Amino acid sequence: MVNELKNIEKISIENFQDDLISWFKAEQRELPWRKDQDPYKVWVSEIMLQQTRVDTVIPYFNRFIEWFPTINDLANANDEKVLKAWEGLGYYSRVRNLHSAVKEVNEKYNGKVPNTPKEISTLKGVGPYTAGAILSIAYGVPEPAVDGNVMRVLSRILSIWEDIAKPSTRKVFEIAVRQLISHDEPSEFNQALMELGALICTPTSPSCLLCPVRDHCQGFHEGVEKDLPVKSKKNSQRAVDLAAVIIKDNSGRFLIHKRPENGLLANLWEFPNVEMHQPFVLERTQIADLFHESFDLEIKLEKGIGQIEHIFSHLIWNIRVYTGTIRSAIQESGEWKFVTLAEMDEYAFPVSYHKIIKLYHDYNKK
Ligand code: ADE
Repeated sequence: MVNELKNIEKISIENFQDDLISWFKAEQRELPWRKDQDPYKVWVSEIMLQQTRVDTVIPYFNRFIEWFPTINDLANANDEKVLKAWEGLGYYSRVRNLHSAVKEVNEKYNGKVPNTPKEISTLKGVGPYTAGAILSIAYGVPEPAVDGNVMRVLSRILSIWEDIAKPSTRKVFEIAVRQLISHDEPSEFNQALMELGALICTPTSPSCLLCPVRDHCQGFHEGVEKDLPVKSKKNSQRAVDLAAVIIKDNSGRFLIHKRPENGLLANLWEFPNVEMHQPFVLERTQIADLFHESFDLEIKLEKGIGQIEHIFSHLIWNIRVYTGTIRSAIQESGEWKFVTLAEMDEYAFPVSYHKIIKLYHDYNKK
């Protein structure tokens, strides 16, 4: 570990902090979660910003805070509405964990987000990065907040050649931040590293000529900034073939199904669908048999109206979409509902299902 951080000695830490923080103060973007230091808002923003770009997050953040302005509002909100507020952002376990952690804060900590690493880290969905980000930004505690962007920036500044795809590598960077972080301005320091990663020290073509800490950057001096960070490739995504069916009842309402409460896209709604494990194309009657086996649904598939693809980090869904009709009565329940198009707006659907709805509308326009 010591060996990986040998380059810290080459840095004048105070100058580095000054250069980095002055640049941040002058150049930082105006972002809605930077308007105040409310720990709840910092928390929401940091959870949204995991795996999601700033531009995408801004409107979601604003609407989320409008719907749930305080911890108390979110703690008392109904699950369906909270999921709806997240619809389209993906990685839905983030919002389920946030919701249950906020309930815990409301009950156990009187609605005040804890300000110690020990307590905050026990909250659901609050890993080391989020804990460090909230503690430093909202409470001024000098804790590291190391995510992939910060690892990229610091791997270049300190010429660290550890594989950042390995979970154990984050610790190396946390040790580095503990040595480098400003104790007077930990919030600015951590946010400056994030901002540098977003604006200057970008993944493929870092703008070293504009970089406020270029003089301190070992990667730049060694001419290896573009070779860093080292990041091994993950296993490729698994392809899954699905058949989904759009079924309307006699009064024009659509049949929708709630996904199980655990696993991928938990609790979101969808059109009934089955996985087709066969490597060959199934006949419609065979697909209808799968619906019968999986859900006890007696349906007939009518027309194939197209195919959509949806890419997750670990999966690719290829969904063939059919229209269909029901052959036996369906009992509505918490899991199965008939809804009008207007009512569908009240339910949270995965992005792939919005693509299906669009496909259906386009097909009907033809
Ligand atoms: N990425 C992660 N956290 C961020 C923040 N607080 N501001 C901007 N980008 C971020």
